[in-house]
Amino acid sequence: MLTVIILAAGKGTRMKSENPKVLFHAAGKPMIDYTIEAARQLNPEKIVVVTGSSAELVKDYLKDSSVEFAVQESQKGTADAVMAAKDCINDNGKVLILCGDMPLVTYETLSGFINTVKEDIAFISVKMQHPKGYGRIIRSSDNKVLKIVEEKDANEYEKHITEVNTGVYLCSAKELKKRLALIDNNNAQNEFYLTDIVKGGAEAYLCDDEIEFLGVNDRIQLSQAAKHLWKKRAERYMLDGVSIIDPSSCYIDEDVVIGKDTVIYPNVFLENGCRIDKNVVIGTGCRLNKAVVCEHVVIKDNSFIEDSYIGAGSTVGPMAHLRPGSILEGDNKVGNFVEIKKTKMGKGSKASHLTYLGDASLGENVNAGCGTITCNYDGYNKYNTVIGNNVFIGSDTQLVAPVTIGDNVLIAAGSTITKDIPENALGISRAKQDNLENKGKEIMEINKAKKESNKKVK
Ligand code: UD1
Ligand code: CA
Repeated sequence: MLTVIILAAGKGTRMKSENPKVLFHAAGKPMIDYTIEAARQLNPEKIVVVTGSSAELVKDYLKDSSVEFAVQESQKGTADAVMAAKDCINDNGKVLILCGDMPLVTYETLSGFINTVKEDIAFISVKMQHPKGYGRIIRSSDNKVLKIVEEKDANEYEKHITEVNTGVYLCSAKELKKRLALIDNNNAQNEFYLTDIVKGGAEAYLCDDEIEFLGVNDRIQLSQAAKHLWKKRAERYMLDGVSIIDPSSCYIDEDVVIGKDTVIYPNVFLENGCRIDKNVVIGTGCRLNKAVVCEHVVIKDNSFIEDSYIGAGSTVGPMAHLRPGSILEGDNKVGNFVEIKKTKMGKGSKASHLTYLGDASLGENVNAGCGTITCNYDGYNKYNTVIGNNVFIGSDTQLVAPVTIGDNVLIAAGSTITKDIPENALGISRAKQDNLENKGKEIMEINKAKKESNKKVK
């Protein structure tokens, strides 16, 4: 019978935050999720999360995750935190204690530990290249564990020890309770240290992968943990047939689906349940949030796609922005500096440069020339623009909504369209051009002369 206790009540002082440490995100989700997932795979009888500071936030976040809670009223140390959960512990079972701030620990390591150790009190130790901040393992001359000394209590000799406590313990419930009762707070931090349960004998299970036991105490360690998680995740997609140019600079949320032979360039964020089909190319610097991207789409560098659908064969970007509710039905082109919002583009329609389409519906094979703007907002209300099939919109056209353009319409460049245009018509609205003979040269000469005389005065 196994009970898992996850310690998550600490104040997280070193994060310098008003939010609970275990809810900080590492690679797209709160740190504590990783620990709970690893614990759950062990099939324990129950998982108890010890909360304290900001307990309500942590409880609220975990309300659907079928864990139990114990509350540590004031944060008097890790032993006190385990004490807070003692009523949840079955006396005849075993207790696995984990910390909520170690998101890299894996199920494989935990099960190896549980299935190997024999003694009533056991813990995982690891040799760290930079042991600073961790509790050091003090052994006797015959290599038995004597005690664990925290950084703040360690003398110079002890600080040189590289074998550290990971904060993972497996104990028989009875022995744990017995030893907890003996712990005092006579140390540099006046805390009740859980590490003191090893006094009286304990088995150290030495692991060799130090990264798994990175404890996140500050935001630098959080970024180190996140970096590792992002990379591991990217590599999983690579093994499934996705090409990722640099897995250490690719940020893919866990719920993202990516098809085979898709290529992802560096510095790309795929967030919030994106679905990317096969043979897609996503250029560097793109961020996609809740996007659906169909086969053979190319998204060029530095594009931002939010809650939008990009149909097969389309090209988007560079530097394009698809805001929520944009639907490209397929074979579309959305080029540089184009912003699209709540707009449907029928098959084959294009907006290649410097365009804003908002609250609009375009039919098939529409060409929105450079600088096309839907004027959809009058300061109070938003209005729709409806455009039929095979429409050609000349450059620098404003469509003042609400307005409807029929099929096969041609709009002359530089027009401001305020009235509906019936199908097959030419829409044109611009002042007639005059050419005044010699006037251009004359004005330029006057200006030049003015400039010269100004220089002389100076
Ligand atoms: C702890 C260990 C240290 C070990 C390191 C591994 C102790 C005294 N020290 O140090 O030997 O090398 O973890 O990462 O145990 N917590 C509570 N209530 C409290 C205090 C802490 O629930 O009153 C929780 C924290 O939320 C955290 C965990 O316990 O999840 C560890 O606490 P933290 O303060 O991070 O301990 P470390 O200094 O890292
Ligand atoms: Ca810690």
